[in-house]
Amino acid sequence: MSRITVEVDGVSYSDDVEPRTLLVQYLRETLGKTGTVIGCDTSNCGACTVHLDGRSVKSCSVLAVQADGHAVTTIEGLATGGELHPVQRAFNTHHALQCGYCAPGMVMSSCALLAENPDPSEQEVRDGLEGNLCRCTGYQNIVKAVLAAAADDAGAAPEPETQTAGTTSGGAQ
Ligand code: FES
Ligand code: FES
Repeated sequence: MSRITVEVDGVSYSDDVEPRTLLVQYLRETLGKTGTVIGCDTSNCGACTVHLDGRSVKSCSVLAVQADGHAVTTIEGLATGGELHPVQRAFNTHHALQCGYCAPGMVMSSCALLAENPDPSEQEVRDGLEGNLCRCTGYQNIVKAVLAAAADDAGAAPEPETQTAGTTSGGAQ
């Protein structure tokens, strides 16, 4: 087992994990952050996308030990003070989901995309989201939502601040 300390959605956690534990498994099974979902076993679908130090990563392709000492933001940490993140609001307004399974990853990738490029063209949005698959093929409204969020200056929305330090979950205390 390896001891890791990771800030997730603004809260610091210290846990013992097996070296082979994937970040997505740690988030879901140890921390109960089931908003981050698993949609494939080939690192293809992007449903598991989270931010690692503000950059989007597929959490099924990252080991939990690689997140040691870093900050992770999941879909559950985007809303602040009971207010949806502008990208979440835009997905809602523009009906950018059908079954919703891809939505957590789509939203996280969209936020990272807008943080890097606050005023993307439609093609840049499509290119930026090419690592995220929607089995319901709802791409049109997803792109519409991201463009609307860009118009709303969603790229300026910050990652969550640390709320409490030293909270320990799961592992030996
Ligand atoms: Fe991670 Fe599909 S579950 S890419
Ligand atoms: Fe169903 Fe995208 S809305 S997978």
